Amino acid sequence: MYDLWEPTVLGPMTLRNRTVRSATNEHFSERDGALTVTWAETQIELARNEVGLVITGHLAVDRSQRADEGQPVLDKDTDFSLLHRAAEGVHAAGGCIVAQISHTGPKAPANVNGVPPKSPADFMPEELDILVDQFTFAALRCKEAGMDGVQVHCAHGYLLSSFLNPEQNLRTDDYGGSLENRFRLHARILASVRAACGSDFALLVKADCNGSGNFHGLLGLFQQAGVDGVEVSGVDFDGRAGNKKPFFLKEVLDARTGIQLPLILVGGIFSRKDAQAVLDAGIPFVSFSRALICQPDFLALMKAGQLEESPCLACNGCYKVYRQRPVRCVTHGRPVPQLKKIFHSN
Ligand SMILES: Cc1cc2nc3c(=O)[nH]c(=O)nc-3n(C[C@H](O)[C@H](O)[C@H](O)COP(=O)(O)O)c2cc1C
Repeated sequence: MYDLWEPTVLGPMTLRNRTVRSATNEHFSERDGALTVTWAETQIELARNEVGLVITGHLAVDRSQRADEGQPVLDKDTDFSLLHRAAEGVHAAGGCIVAQISHTGPKAPANVNGVPPKSPADFMPEELDILVDQFTFAALRCKEAGMDGVQVHCAHGYLLSSFLNPEQNLRTDDYGGSLENRFRLHARILASVRAACGSDFALLVKADCNGSGNFHGLLGLFQQAGVDGVEVSGVDFDGRAGNKKPFFLKEVLDARTGIQLPLILVGGIFSRKDAQAVLDAGIPFVSFSRALICQPDFLALMKAGQLEESPCLACNGCYKVYRQRPVRCVTHGRPVPQLKKIFHSN
């Protein structure tokens, strides 16, 4: 069926292969959320090592609700020249780049932001309008900076994930209740981004296969909203330490009947064999996170025939250490000394 290394298209993008770097918070901002050269160089390094589509770590559209003190912010105060530097460098290396834009919502730590996290029910109607504007502003800046698109983060318990989740969305207005209502905010954001950025700018989403109660219905709504592709993850994506098998494959296969949208699968894919199994099951794109934390040149080594499986232990140590020291992988990481100043335990 599909070949991992064949050139292909995803929405308006022409990709050199079917590999994706799943959004991975690099934790490389300054303390105030400013992008850094190291952040930009991280994206470029991945593209130089055969990643077809680089998706940046989540960028906060609201600086009062960051996920941690290393998460970059994308708002009117952002220095967009570094977005441009990342886009130019990735393109020069033969890759495409999409910025993941996100609102942390219920997972935003008060000790980082100085204000409590916000859940769906905490948003007044006029604040929902502001949210639509924040996502649209961020997407437009990415377009102006030369990025190929954005991925709206609708997964992992962050704000747009929790709006979809009937247990977390307790609103009683038009934005709560039925799946269509819980999707209303997403529909507005996606329509607004599309109207602002046009159809030559990729509009992707990352979504949970297991948070909304009706994943097939959710895929249908994304399709109706006109997105260019859906990356499939799950709310419990980080609860499977040691599992080196594509852990959401069954859910995506069960839900995709009648869905024409290109799907990207992430989670537990660490080897050539499993990447091919995903492609053979009819999923056209394969996404990697921890394998590329462990070895940014993982895909280059695989393509060169020097590696069949990532040495990543899937231990999830990278979730814990990355907030405390500039070594991403507990077993294979490389220090980034110039960033030491921004790393404090939190
Ligand atoms: C350190 C770290 C940071 C992450 N940051 C993000 C992020 O910014 N946005 C996102 O959607 N997922 C994020 N993820 C989740 C990954 O994109 C991916 O969904 C998950 O790690 C499972 O894929 P894997 O088995 O290939 O690692 C992160 C994962 C790790 C380990």
